[in-house]
Amino acid sequence: MKKYKIGSFSLFIFLSIFNMACSFNNTNKNTMDTATITTKDFGTFEGKRITEYTLTNVAGMQVGIINYGGILTKIITKDKAGDFGDVITGYDSLEGYLQKGNPYFGALIGRYANRLAKGTYTIDGITYHAALNNNGQSLHGGLKGFDKVVWDAVALPGDSSLQLSYKSIDGEEGYPGNLQVQVVYTLTANNSIKIEYTASSDKNTVINFTNHAYFNLSAGKSPNIYEHIVQLKADKYTPVDTSLIPTGALLDVKGTPMDFTTPKKVGQDIDKVTGGYDHNWVLNKGEGLAEIASVYEPNSGRYLTVATTEPGIQFYTGNFLTGNLTGTKKGIIYNKHYALTLETQHFPDSPNQPDFPSTLLKPGETYHQTTVFSFSTK
Ligand code: BGC
Repeated sequence: MKKYKIGSFSLFIFLSIFNMACSFNNTNKNTMDTATITTKDFGTFEGKRITEYTLTNVAGMQVGIINYGGILTKIITKDKAGDFGDVITGYDSLEGYLQKGNPYFGALIGRYANRLAKGTYTIDGITYHAALNNNGQSLHGGLKGFDKVVWDAVALPGDSSLQLSYKSIDGEEGYPGNLQVQVVYTLTANNSIKIEYTASSDKNTVINFTNHAYFNLSAGKSPNIYEHIVQLKADKYTPVDTSLIPTGALLDVKGTPMDFTTPKKVGQDIDKVTGGYDHNWVLNKGEGLAEIASVYEPNSGRYLTVATTEPGIQFYTGNFLTGNLTGTKKGIIYNKHYALTLETQHFPDSPNQPDFPSTLLKPGETYHQTTVFSFSTK
């Protein structure tokens, strides 16, 4: 057998070439050096490969996205001391996301985010029945919503955006029309995550999309969000009945625990609301993109602002988290009120509420939504 002696210089050349080959496979490095996207195998689902795409910007911020459910798996941002930490809930592997009772951690939600009363609604005189999955109501798209399907993922030129596409077929989960949906996640150089949704249908249908990331800006240091200071630019909210279905009224927040018009600790009034916050606020805005919410966590100094084109936001304080999820990141126990969501959306049950902004999408129209989560410290 022939033996080859490799000198340290040749070894260095060999390792450099090997490294280049690996990074060519896994990393697309933009010439402007603004961002990178790396990929990691995340298992398989229904015979399809699931990949985790990690977008990293020049500031070192990282965002993880998988093509199962379009789920945000991690958002790693700096605190005021310059230390990085992951500010959203999630699991170490795909199995975690597949477990029964996973409360939509980080997922894309559709066709209809939030609740549809008894799953029933009427378009052009035809009554449709969306799949029921929540105490006789339809929640977040039904039994197999957009959070439980495999999306086609493509990294866009520039390496700061990942495009996800999904075709939902006519009748899926009780919704009419073949619906083509695209979601583009972009990590900007100044630490914003932009989520742009577009959709079109070949029949009249109803849609409501959101992202269901749960934030705890302490990055694992605090077991609840009571010290988080939240502002919601909303003078009104949509009160709900015991099934969490809007009554149709719009109520003033002024003088009530629902008032977040000036920044307020989540813990200040949470006990005055049964279970905690789980409501839709009516945003003080017209058409177009506007900054409508912020969250500040004083210990880490992390500050998050939310801008959206949507008319509403579901501010939910993780009321149904019970600490029973397995495979959580770093084994963290996600108990009640561990994290909060800021789900930009149209109002719940809009198809049954003629006075709410319409969620009807007609053939020939293109639905657009932009939501931006921006991270900084102060
Ligand atoms: C809803 C909650 C629901 C949760 C599921 C939120 O968007 O408002 O009522 O329990 O999603 O994790």
